[in-house]
Amino acid sequence: MAEQRAPIIAPSILAADFTVLGKEVEAIANADWVHVDVMDGHFVPNLSFGADITKAVARVTQLPLDVHLMIENPQRWVDSYIEAGASCVIFHIEATDKPVELARHIRAQGVRAGFSLRPATPIEPMLEHLGEFDEVLVMSVEPGFGGQSFMPEQLEKVRTLRSYIDAHNLDVTIEIDGGISEDTIAQAAAAGCDAFVAGSAVYRDQDPGAAVDRLRNLAASAR
Ligand code: DX5
Ligand code: ZN
Repeated sequence: MAEQRAPIIAPSILAADFTVLGKEVEAIANADWVHVDVMDGHFVPNLSFGADITKAVARVTQLPLDVHLMIENPQRWVDSYIEAGASCVIFHIEATDKPVELARHIRAQGVRAGFSLRPATPIEPMLEHLGEFDEVLVMSVEPGFGGQSFMPEQLEKVRTLRSYIDAHNLDVTIEIDGGISEDTIAQAAAAGCDAFVAGSAVYRDQDPGAAVDRLRNLAASAR
């Protein structure tokens, strides 16, 4: 069994008020990471923001930027996000034929590499390649929008990952993304997640920082 670290809470700024983005990032200074959702209007039917906004966020926080690329052709764009200050670059395995090559390219620049997968994509073919990655982002909603309902059946993927990672003694962070709230975080923690993205649950709260602390406590007591 790998050593238990404190749960990682990664608020998604997709749910923040973009007119005061700097203040919204300051409001979650007690979080562990900042989750940055990049959408290109092709891989997903929504557009968010790109590398310039990511760079602006990097300027106002010391927290690691967990950059989730929901874009086609990620190999063409990863370097812009590394230059923008990403601490981890996560691409979708549905968007590339060469996930291992891309992870090596990211890691060679001293940045963590992660992959994500849509709810309908199986995890099994990726298990033998896990050692090439620092992070796996399990989607518990269809990527593209914040504020959707949590899909509990995706926790089966988390359990599969948890047993494989522990059995092979790998250092890979399991992160979950979509519909994480005070009602759902405990089941995700119990299934074996290390890191939790939360958009609406943090930014729809009057006090986003307090929401972060409550989520972290709930995750810690469920593990
Ligand atoms: C969805 C994004 C998520 C989203 C989560 O495509 O990847 O990170 O911001 O939002 P909530 O927590 O509201 O489901
Ligand atoms: Zn995300």
